[in-house]
Amino acid sequence: MMEQPRIIVIAGATSPTGHAIARRFAESGDSLALFSRDAEKLTNLSKEIGLPSSRFLTAAYDFRLAESAHQAAQTIQAHFSRCDVLINLIGGWIGGKTIEAFQTEDYATMLEQHFWTTLHLVRAFLPLLRLSNRGRVLVISSPSASLPPAKSAPYAIAKAAQETLLLSLAQELKSTSITANILRVSAIDTQGERQKEHSDQTASWVTPEEIAETIYFLCSEAANLINGARIPLYGSP
Ligand SMILES: NC(=O)c1ccc[n+]([C@@H]2O[C@H](COP(=O)([O-])OP(=O)(O)OC[C@H]3O[C@@H](n4cnc5c(N)ncnc54)[C@H](OP(=O)(O)O)[C@@H]3O)[C@@H](O)[C@H]2O)c1
Repeated sequence: MMEQPRIIVIAGATSPTGHAIARRFAESGDSLALFSRDAEKLTNLSKEIGLPSSRFLTAAYDFRLAESAHQAAQTIQAHFSRCDVLINLIGGWIGGKTIEAFQTEDYATMLEQHFWTTLHLVRAFLPLLRLSNRGRVLVISSPSASLPPAKSAPYAIAKAAQETLLLSLAQELKSTSITANILRVSAIDTQGERQKEHSDQTASWVTPEEIAETIYFLCSEAANLINGARIPLYGSP
């Protein structure tokens, strides 16, 4: 019997990585729900993907707010009845100052973008993921989460908090059909620089397409037992 199309939810879908992931799943016959804050960017993305409305929806939400995540989950429930894959790509980076020089708001901004959006989405979507027989939760983090460099404290702290949330979730999902995993990247190579100009710096950069392919594998049946992993996508341990 043919499996039903999976329902793939991407928050932060208008990023280059979001485009690549959306294209990858759309090509494979899955259904997509794509979210970011900007309705115009979402409209352009929907034209690029070109799926029929029965397999596609977009909506603009700010997931720093718990209520937005709950509204998005209600929209998915009404349209698709369940969620199979939840991917949070919401990001942002603040750096270049010492711990004392950063403002309190800088720490709050990074925590909101990385940790709070993930917490709100996970809490809102878990009931819908439990209706799936192959649920997945995925985020993209950074090696800074466990090896924080100087002058990047708000970002490193926020990524560490986001990872701790996913690892706690993975523990709570043990023995269920849902998994939670983290990809770690050092830099996203949106211009194909690693190929064009290979150097010590670009050697660790990963393209959106490579990220999409890894995520696609993690959502496959072959990856049913990969849970609570932090997968380095930068060519070294
Ligand atoms: N880029 C890198 O080199 C790098 C390195 C390590 C880890 N990462 C991680 O990889 C992921 C993707 O990174 P990226 O650089 O591709 O991201 P990005 O270009 O900053 O895109 C972030 C996406 O999230 C949306 N967004 C931002 N704030 C939002 C909010 N509060 N609510 C809803 N949507 C929001 C943005 O669209 P709108 O503006 O339309 O809302 C956009 O679609 C992030 O989690 C990032 O931390 C990236």
